[in-house]
Amino acid sequence: MSFKEKIIKEKLPLHIAVIMDGNGRWAQKRGNKRVFGHKNGVAAVRDTVEAAAELGLEYLTLYAFSTENWNRPRTEIDALMSLLVATINKEMKTLLDNNVRLLTIGDIGSLPVSVSDKLKIAVEKTAVCGGLKLILALSYSSRWEIVNAVRNIAVKIESGELKSQDIDRRIFEQFLNTAGIPEPELLIRTSGEYRLSNFLLWQMAYTELYFTGTLWPDFRREDLYKAIVNFQSRERRFGKTSKQIKKNIKVDC
Ligand code: IPE
Ligand code: IPE
Ligand code: MG
Repeated sequence: MSFKEKIIKEKLPLHIAVIMDGNGRWAQKRGNKRVFGHKNGVAAVRDTVEAAAELGLEYLTLYAFSTENWNRPRTEIDALMSLLVATINKEMKTLLDNNVRLLTIGDIGSLPVSVSDKLKIAVEKTAVCGGLKLILALSYSSRWEIVNAVRNIAVKIESGELKSQDIDRRIFEQFLNTAGIPEPELLIRTSGEYRLSNFLLWQMAYTELYFTGTLWPDFRREDLYKAIVNFQSRERRFGKTSKQIKKNIKVDC
């Protein structure tokens, strides 16, 4: 039985987040420059997005460029930005054909105008798509997002629009980039690294973590199916006991 056949359709994670890691090592293993790995990562993105859309997944967030990635060599950053523009141009048809709506999180204003303009157009063009919501995290980091949220809350308090005693989890989350987006139920990180690298720290308080040694350019739909099957075998307790969870399942049935 293939991994795809093992997936329980009714129990799909609502939202999958992916740290697409290992492009540089993939290229270097082949005696190529790191950029070659980024270019080959695009096929993995396409296959993953198509598979997610086909499965009927609601939300897929891809970590494409972190705040810390600005510290990479200028040539690599420039190549990544050009690749982004080229990819958006090339993949618009894939998005529309698969009814995928593109959204972004991160400091989009810090990206070169050529990139932010392309993104804006793609977000607008796909706004009519009612299928998978594909969220690209660009110039994103959790600490940036949380500090930004706190600053914006402070502004509202200063102007009298918000009272400090009214701040609760729900209000706080409205100030995050991910406002309105459910938190990820499954996180996949490729390339055998076991860390979160400043990704969705608030939102992943109860996310199931899945790590694979596969380098991102080699990641394909079968790898996605395998991660989902693994996710579906887990018991999510949210602080409760296993017995309480099992009892609830019985009641639900
Ligand atoms: C992930 O691959 C892509 C980005 C962070 C933009 P890396 O470029 O981090 O590849 P490795 O981890 O160095 O192999
Ligand atoms: C995380 O990968 C960021 C993205 C995948 C965009 P990195 O390769 O930048 O993470 P670290 O530096 O190894 O933690
Ligand atoms: Mg890396």
